[in-house]
Amino acid sequence: MEVLIQADAERAALLVARIVAGEVRANPRAVLGLATGGTMERVYRQLVRMHREERLDFSGCTTFNLDEYVGLAPDDLNSYHRYMREHLFRHVNLAPGKTHLPHGNAPDLAAECRRYEELLQQAGGIDLQLLGIGTSGHIGFNEPLSALRSRTREKALTPATVKQNAPYFGGEDKMPRRALTMGVGTILDTRRCVLLATGASKAEIIARAVEGPITSMITASALQWHPRCTVVVDEEAAAQLQEKEYYRWIFANEPEWESYR
Ligand code: PGA
Repeated sequence: MEVLIQADAERAALLVARIVAGEVRANPRAVLGLATGGTMERVYRQLVRMHREERLDFSGCTTFNLDEYVGLAPDDLNSYHRYMREHLFRHVNLAPGKTHLPHGNAPDLAAECRRYEELLQQAGGIDLQLLGIGTSGHIGFNEPLSALRSRTREKALTPATVKQNAPYFGGEDKMPRRALTMGVGTILDTRRCVLLATGASKAEIIARAVEGPITSMITASALQWHPRCTVVVDEEAAAQLQEKEYYRWIFANEPEWESYR
């Protein structure tokens, strides 16, 4: 794992967008794993800008999102299908048939999860996976005690996640309590992961996920097993990390990051 600390949320998102753009330029047929949530909105804004101003071309790419709420139709205002259309898909040149999210309103949810894993296999796996982190420590909707080898499946949401996302729904009582999510094992199979966390509300969970022990209580900690995982944080989210000086040295000195500084 590497941790890259950026001055603020905007710069952290820009760095993540540049990593994605670098992948797409190096591999125009890249399979991208996408995430939702407030933190990612800045990343998608930057990718849309790069598409418009820097001719970043998504036409050969395929995408797979991490998760979707159970019971929400793709055109529901709060669905992640809609989030992705609004924040990315309708602004760039991704081919409509190549953007995938699990269907939370499928008649047979277990079959839908199997179909999603098969689609992933057929696409050859994910080249670069974007991740956020919830205050529960989740990646995707892999809530505490998710098996660290789990695959795409239905998961009940924890109170912390319900509290975090209820404002989007106008109250906890209006929010779905279940979701379909790629598993921790599905995420660990991706070839590269980039996790973005910003703001003071993420400082404690980032320190526990990155520098604490690997535990299913904080599924983001399983990324310590991933062979190529980059964690990008702003100063606020980095506040409780012990080894900040080392992480800063890496970004300032390692040749891999030269063109990103
Ligand atoms: P957020 O969500 O970006 O809205 O904080 C991240 C997550 O829960 O994974």
